[in-house]
Amino acid sequence: MGSKNEFANVEKIKEHFENSTENQLRGNSTPAAINNYAQFILEKLQISEGRILDVGCGDGRIMEQIQKINPKLSIDGVELTSSLSNTARLLNPKSEIFNQNAINLYSKKKYDRIFSFSF
Ligand SMILES: C[S@@+](CC[C@H](N)C(=O)[O-])C[C@H]1O[C@@H](n2cnc3c(N)ncnc32)[C@H](O)[C@@H]1O
Repeated sequence: MGSKNEFANVEKIKEHFENSTENQLRGNSTPAAINNYAQFILEKLQISEGRILDVGCGDGRIMEQIQKINPKLSIDGVELTSSLSNTARLLNPKSEIFNQNAINLYSKKKYDRIFSFSF
């Protein structure tokens, strides 16, 4: 854990995403596309209530839509890039957003599902 190469790669990922546009994050970012992604994830997760975690949540727009579709779900995110984590926090005030490398995430919370989309 924490080798020099691993550290360098993480820095490159941050640099890449720090100034990324919405379309670089996920291809299509129209409200209809975001809704489709959220519906797709919910279908895969097969869960109607409980706590879920989005790994590499980006700007949190998909989290926000999942929450709108199903307010019974409590959703947190982990995101490496700080500017994106900040946007995710603004869009998802009820969620906890961990701004860190997911590999090192330790949370006392237990999650019923953990997922990643377009990671
Ligand atoms: C292609 S974007 C997708 C963002 C979001 N899932 C979406 O679909 O809108 C991938 C995201 O994963 C984040 N990421 C990459 N490696 C990560 C890691 N090791 N830990 C946490 N986040 C990471 C990036 O910063 C970026 O925001």
